[in-house]
Amino acid sequence: MSMSLLDKIKSKRLPSHIAIIMDGNGRWATERGLDRTEGHQEGVVAVRRIVEAAIHANVNYLTIYAFSTENWNRPNDEVDALMELMVHAIVKETPDLIKQGVRLLTIGDCERLPEKTRNALDDCLEQTKDGQNITLVLALSYSSKWEITHALKNIIDDAQSKKLSNSDLNDKLISNYLSTAGIPDPDLLIRSGGERRLSNFLLWQLAYAELYFTDTYWPDFNDEHLYRAISDFQSRERRFGKTSDQIKKEQGDN
Ligand code: IPE
Ligand code: IPE
Ligand code: MG
Repeated sequence: MSMSLLDKIKSKRLPSHIAIIMDGNGRWATERGLDRTEGHQEGVVAVRRIVEAAIHANVNYLTIYAFSTENWNRPNDEVDALMELMVHAIVKETPDLIKQGVRLLTIGDCERLPEKTRNALDDCLEQTKDGQNITLVLALSYSSKWEITHALKNIIDDAQSKKLSNSDLNDKLISNYLSTAGIPDPDLLIRSGGERRLSNFLLWQLAYAELYFTDTYWPDFNDEHLYRAISDFQSRERRFGKTSDQIKKEQGDN
């Protein structure tokens, strides 16, 4: 019997943290003569599918870019529909998330979200806080430049109140002031939908991530696509500035 793709990737080193820019919902819908909102609805189905697939692959952290700071500039009716959809999806999926052992976290400027969305999120965060199988980080009203600006404000405040001095500043400290404090940096970034850009996502945290781009629109993205991305990740040599010889020797030593 031939080994399944899932078995194959599980026999090698897995990415502990995968970050995803889920893109292509609108084009997926438009190409079918549907409203963009219907693409977002299918996008939610895909998120559900990929969370489950990631659990099966023993991924520890999955971060999903669901709504960017820049997305507030979309037409009002699309923004409203997305916010409605999120409330609906969160409320509907919470029991399943609990059952699957998912711990939900959010990053981003949640104060900008409508109260209804925020309340639904807060309930889900509370109810899933003991999830042990995977941490699902939803980036909502998130952008990296917003996050870094926010962190710098807090650093300045803490310096002024003498909680912090110049000599404390290093990259670990900066990481701890970001909304991803305590979460290891992503090993692998996947972007669906064909664009090859980061769109203001996790600029600091992706410093050494492997990048994987696919033309598949997000609503079509399935287990197989995820496992192919992981398999591609496993074929790469992560050198972190060292030479290939050094890396091979280190691997031999383990
Ligand atoms: C990604 O799909 C989802 C969000 C940004 C909310 P898009 O809505 O960007 O889909 P395209 O890029 O227009 O196809
Ligand atoms: C990035 O997608 C944001 C999310 C996936 C939430 P966009 O579709 O908004 O990105 P750009 O504007 O094409 O770069
Ligand atoms: Mg897009």
